[in-house]
Amino acid sequence: GQDNAEYLISRIRSVRGFPKEGINFRDFMPVLADPKALGLMLDALEAALPVPADSFDAIAGLEARGFLFGPALAARLGKGFIAVRKAGKLPPETIGESYDLEYGTASIEIEANMVQPGERVLIVDDLIATGGTAKAAADLIRRAGGEVAGFSFVMELVGLNGLEPLGDVPSSTLVTMPA
Ligand code: PRP
Ligand code: MG
Repeated sequence: GQDNAEYLISRIRSVRGFPKEGINFRDFMPVLADPKALGLMLDALEAALPVPADSFDAIAGLEARGFLFGPALAARLGKGFIAVRKAGKLPPETIGESYDLEYGTASIEIEANMVQPGERVLIVDDLIATGGTAKAAADLIRRAGGEVAGFSFVMELVGLNGLEPLGDVPSSTLVTMPA
């Protein structure tokens, strides 16, 4: 309930001016370090799933922070976990996707054959800001032959319209915070 949401929010540390001026960094490492908050977060992610658990086959998480809870959530739900890595870390064959950052571009990859044809995948990450990372992950899963069943985020930065690039795929967010 409300108390649990407040407890979770109380464990999210905000750091102004990191990693650069003008950014208010939302750090959820203290959530992970706190046994009560960690349990609450996983309970809440499970309770807030954007689609029923039996309507997807696997969870894909985004390096690095999506790796910190995606496998735990997958294990709870009896699913496997697909690692979406930053480019250059995985052995061939890989499938990659590039996307625009505020300055420059970034690339992410999965190992080919990680996604079965028609497999339904829930994409998880700690945070959605502009939505660029989540959109690139969705494009990657689709190009690998999968379907994106939904998105699950811990935090959403409001005012950046980050959900817009994700189209009409269902999504859930535990807490919203100003950018
Ligand atoms: C952060 C965050 C999301 C992404 C959100 O990851 O963990 O993955 O940015 O931003 P967007 O919606 O504007 O794309 P980051 O690439 O900073 O690195 P990390 O997860 O490896 O710490
Ligand atoms: Mg990230």
